[in-house]
Amino acid sequence: MDQLKLVVALLLTISALPFQTVASSSKVYPYNTYTTLHIDCGSPNPTYSTPDRILEWHTDQDFIKSEKNQIIKILLTKHTLIQTMNTLRFFPKGNKNCYNLPLFTQYKKFLFRARFYYGNYDGLSKPLSFRLEIDGKFWANVTASLSEEPVYHELFYIIKGEKVTVCLVRTTDDEVPFISFLEATKLLSESCKFLDNNTALYLHSRINYGANESVEQTVDVSTEINNRIWKSKELPDYLNIHSDVTPSGHLFYENSPPWPVTVYAIQAHNITDSIYLAFDFSPQTTIQQAYLVLYFMDPLYRSSPNQTSRVKIYTNNNKLVVADVPNFGRYEEKCQVVTLFPVPIVGSVADVTISPAESSTLAPLLNAIKVFSTIDVSKPAHLFKGKRKT
Ligand SMILES: *[C@@H]1O[C@H](CO)[C@@H](O)[C@H](O)[C@H]1NC(C)=O
Ligand SMILES: *[C@@H]1O[C@H](CO)[C@@H](O)[C@H](O)[C@H]1NC(C)=O
Ligand SMILES: *[C@@H]1O[C@H](CO)[C@@H](O)[C@H](O)[C@H]1NC(C)=O
Ligand SMILES: *[C@@H]1O[C@H](CO)[C@@H](O)[C@H](O)[C@H]1NC(C)=O
Ligand SMILES: *[C@@H]1O[C@H](CO)[C@@H](O)[C@H](O)[C@H]1NC(C)=O
Repeated sequence: MDQLKLVVALLLTISALPFQTVASSSKVYPYNTYTTLHIDCGSPNPTYSTPDRILEWHTDQDFIKSEKNQIIKILLTKHTLIQTMNTLRFFPKGNKNCYNLPLFTQYKKFLFRARFYYGNYDGLSKPLSFRLEIDGKFWANVTASLSEEPVYHELFYIIKGEKVTVCLVRTTDDEVPFISFLEATKLLSESCKFLDNNTALYLHSRINYGANESVEQTVDVSTEINNRIWKSKELPDYLNIHSDVTPSGHLFYENSPPWPVTVYAIQAHNITDSIYLAFDFSPQTTIQQAYLVLYFMDPLYRSSPNQTSRVKIYTNNNKLVVADVPNFGRYEEKCQVVTLFPVPIVGSVADVTISPAESSTLAPLLNAIKVFSTIDVSKPAHLFKGKRKT
């Protein structure tokens, strides 16, 4: 077993190496476009690196027309020590204020993330609402929060050209849009396979099952080459299992999952039991379809070749897929990535059941899931008057 650990650790070190710096901002010359861009809105510093030197942050001044209707605010909160969190830009005038992101069009699929840390910067203790748009298409309704955690919105989107515009749109007279940071990260063409020109994927959750909060911190940017945030979650109704090996680095599989995703899982208590999950999309009841990506890899080393792990996956009582669950200890086996689309949303809920397949000798398990809804980006953002009086 110790030998196994050593070999696995070695393999991981090697596989992680070439990607150490991929997550940093990368400007592509001679066009001054970016494959990856991290913008710290309102920052007075031109560029700076995170203490680990992995991420390079840019001020937003080069990406937005500076006008009188924008104000930079320095926040004095417990997050002041985190450089990206201590400034924001807000827009007291104008209905719509936009950032222009020059991206490298050789890549088409990008992950966009906008974060909003209110920090009660206006002293009003009043969370604000406004709309976020990308290239004039609806992205999200933002409602800021009084909580210490920033609100964030993530979108997987195929860029249409070199300039991508991200706009903050006022929807109520007395609610002022603001933004803390904005990021764009290129994705490999094989990731998000059903993403197309007319459809963007809006992220609802990305969960690393079987892992506790402390694990969340270990998924750093060298391990997570796509700059994704995974939430650790243990579920009391199931076994929360993990491998003794906790590697770093990422995998060369579909969607490049980071290693911690494969070494933590939830598993049903026995071979006759199933895993039942439900994802609630309320209050956005207009959503019709969900897009789910499930990751399977048994983190426990099973020495007997006779043990087979295979699952049946149902949504809304319809069997969709039978999938083999590979074993972490068998190097030739790749993480199983199952994409379910379209998944019907009934009421406001999409449900998933993972049951043992007939030939399986092991209880069903699941390592991680990504839950998206689809956004139609073929039409302009819905123009609505909302609560605006003017
Ligand atoms: C998507 O749009 C690009 C141009 O923006 C075009 O070249 C490509 O063919 C389109 N893809 C499909 C599948 O329509
Ligand atoms: C979280 O997981 C780590 C590693 O598996 C473990 O050392 C720690 O005790 C766990 N913490 C809690 C609160 O379960
Ligand atoms: C399997 O697990 C379920 C739910 O945890 C339980 O109700 C059932 O009695 C278990 N069956 C066996 C054979 O242990
Ligand atoms: C966004 O807000 C508008 C106005 O309140 C509403 O009509 C729309 O359904 C919301 N969309 C989503 C996806 O929440
Ligand atoms: C595996 O299955 C074969 C045939 O069913 C049996 O002969 C063998 O003893 C099993 N091995 C183990 C390790 O269970």
